[in-house]
Amino acid sequence: MVPTGPVDRFDAFRALAERRGRPGERLVGSLAEARARTADGPGVRAPAVTAGMGLLAAAALGPAGHYADLTAPHGRRQVRVCEATACFAAQLGRHLCGVERELGVAAGAATPDGETSLQAVRCLGHCYAGPAALDGDATRTGPTPAAQLAGRAVARDAAIPAADDTGDPVLLGRLPAGEPARQVWPRIVTSGTPGRVGPEVAASGLRGRGGAGCRVATKWAAVGRAPGTVVADGDEGDPGSFADRLLREAAPERVPEGLVLACFACGARQAVALVRSEYPRALARMREAVARAYADGHFGRSVHGTGTAVQVFATPDGRAHLAAAPYLPPGEPPDDDYLLLLVTGRRWAHHNSGSTTRHSGTSALDPVDLLDLHPDDAARYDLREGARVGVDGRHGRARLTARVSEQAPPGQAFCSFRFTASRVNRATSEHANTATSCPEYQVMAVRVHDASTGGAR
Ligand code: FES
Repeated sequence: MVPTGPVDRFDAFRALAERRGRPGERLVGSLAEARARTADGPGVRAPAVTAGMGLLAAAALGPAGHYADLTAPHGRRQVRVCEATACFAAQLGRHLCGVERELGVAAGAATPDGETSLQAVRCLGHCYAGPAALDGDATRTGPTPAAQLAGRAVARDAAIPAADDTGDPVLLGRLPAGEPARQVWPRIVTSGTPGRVGPEVAASGLRGRGGAGCRVATKWAAVGRAPGTVVADGDEGDPGSFADRLLREAAPERVPEGLVLACFACGARQAVALVRSEYPRALARMREAVARAYADGHFGRSVHGTGTAVQVFATPDGRAHLAAAPYLPPGEPPDDDYLLLLVTGRRWAHHNSGSTTRHSGTSALDPVDLLDLHPDDAARYDLREGARVGVDGRHGRARLTARVSEQAPPGQAFCSFRFTASRVNRATSEHANTATSCPEYQVMAVRVHDASTGGAR
């Protein structure tokens, strides 16, 4: 959707990209080209790409090593197999070995003739019917992925078993009932005023389906009326969470309609809808929905004759353009008093929000917040596997259980932040990104000690 007037608000990402000659817009496309040209891994490919753009290697190593589309070579036939929790649990991971044998190629590689590539990914949004695979854009689900990929078994593409018995007014709540979309936007744009939308949404009690279940009207009121950008973030990769896939596949009209209503209500001039490449059907349905919106007069230069313009632009390569940013060190580096850097995050079995996973049984897989320490650090602080560890930072204290592991680099510890008993979120800093105000709550300098002896180092 396009701005219809001047945008005077400071946009930190745009300013950063402009200062650097906007190389970030070319970064992802260049990484994809480099991936197609060479079998080298991201560690070799990414620095070569950034060297030609005047960027630090770190700007490309992040996306090249993280996004599944950029990490491995693609053959003319690209097969993606899910190895996330639900699919792994379905056959204890054997399905991936079976596909490797069937296709004659290892995960993360392509056949020497470039015909077939295989990639292990997480997740494909078919967790209810795993193991799941994508053969190009075609879905394969169920217990025989290798045979289906070889054409020896009937291809299965199980639909999402959607049901709603909550009675809650949540975004997906009425999808199974098939209530038609695009009822509201034509009425609002022709006869409504922006000030009318917020109270109506508040009265409806509509909530989002993210972990927080935030009230939509509360969010909109918090941003006020500003010429910013509304983002429908459709990224999801946690096993069992495929609400964004359901919405984009089952009711794709609702996403652009919700975006234009949010823009109208909040005064935003742009909107972005993210669709994962792991969801090719969702992408196709979203494109069809936008085409229908134009055909029916809901989008265009003058929507329903009102003079309000809604225009949708696809990027030239049809992919998201990321702005590359230089690496900045943590706001709170270690010093003589706080020698270790503590990074907090999620574990494989955890979502960070209790409302999403506390009732799912995954707590039994990893029942406490563990502190990963490199063996050298464990020896230096005289901490053994399983010891209770006091973690003291400048802002607070936590109590964790030690796990000695070479997965933690020397001088850096890691822990999850799922369980309130560990109190690790009380030890976090108030530092925030100066450009985006995003809190740097996941990195802090700490000292550790054996909690049973009380000494701190
Ligand atoms: S865990 Fe495999 S599709 Fe979600």
